[in-house]
Amino acid sequence: MNRGLNFARFMIEQKHHISGIDDALASLVNDVSRACKTIAIAISKGATGDFLGNSDVVNIQGEKQKKMDVIAKQIMIDFAERSGNLAALVSEEMDDFYPIIHDRQVGKYMLMFDPLDGSSNIDVNISVGTIFSVLRCPGECLHPTAADFLRPGTEQICAGYAVYGPSTMLVLTLGDGVHGFTLDREFGEFTLTHPNMRIPETTREFAINSSNQRFWEEPVRRYVKECLDGESGPRGENFNMRWIASMVAEVHRILNRGGIFMYPRDTKDASKPGRLRLLYEANPMAFIVEQAGGVASTGRERILELTPESLHQRVPVILGSKNEVERVASYHRDAVVEEFKSPLFNVRNLFVQ
Ligand code: AHG
Ligand code: MN
Ligand code: MN
Repeated sequence: MNRGLNFARFMIEQKHHISGIDDALASLVNDVSRACKTIAIAISKGATGDFLGNSDVVNIQGEKQKKMDVIAKQIMIDFAERSGNLAALVSEEMDDFYPIIHDRQVGKYMLMFDPLDGSSNIDVNISVGTIFSVLRCPGECLHPTAADFLRPGTEQICAGYAVYGPSTMLVLTLGDGVHGFTLDREFGEFTLTHPNMRIPETTREFAINSSNQRFWEEPVRRYVKECLDGESGPRGENFNMRWIASMVAEVHRILNRGGIFMYPRDTKDASKPGRLRLLYEANPMAFIVEQAGGVASTGRERILELTPESLHQRVPVILGSKNEVERVASYHRDAVVEEFKSPLFNVRNLFVQ
């Protein structure tokens, strides 16, 4: 049995050696970890609890909420609100951000979270997760606005996820590496079991929802085709494929053994340049992946450098092992060069001049 450092103790130690980690942040992250434990307990009841199935609500994204989406959101709000360290929060399951009014103190942090990621899996007992990200509130924090949330992912001071799988794990970065904790259910605490997680630079495993293939752009088609061609194709090697439909579980696998995850730009719905949301899915995962030595890109730009335009903005996501993500990004650059060379481009240019 591994009785390593517990989460609260770990946070105290981080305060001493990472500048910018103060008591308020340590306490907030502790509260988030307690919320994740509570969500884990609810999820593990499965059909013996009253938590499975759909709620009656459709969220701002037009998606039917699961009962557990709503419960997980409320658990997170209850813990975060009580902490006294938050100015505002926003979540996938809320139309707008939620300012937090305290009697005595003004919180100086802002929390973004996806309470239940991969929630289509909940009713069939497959891994789901919670994703979170913390920003420091700009200005004096008394009257937060939506614009306060719309800052590039490079400004995140903390990001993490909990994965509710065969065991529950919490994975966290404070900008100084990535550390994984396993929930010891007998003791009711997260224990450091995976210090300094690193993503292998090379991989032969990719994850993408192939049912969208007809909507993909050329660079992604090219990459996947080359993987599928295996030993006899241009890569000269065989690849394996996985798709869990829960980004948390995919990222967790990649952190442990490498791989590339793609939910790329597609043409399925012109109003949505991607499936995943920037503030509480792409940014926190990009921060974690980069801190573990991986790369996170839209194919065209580094995810962490995007300037958000709205709270629920969607973006393409390609992340994981450095060499493979860089290869996909290079295919995007090749496609631009090809387009530039094409006669059509020159005709268009003639009209523009
Ligand atoms: P959520 O359950 O929070 O809406 O997120 C689900 C996301 C992500 O976790 C996963 O990678 C993807 O949606 C699955 O989408 P498909 O069902 O299109 O495969
Ligand atoms: Mn999600
Ligand atoms: Mn969700």
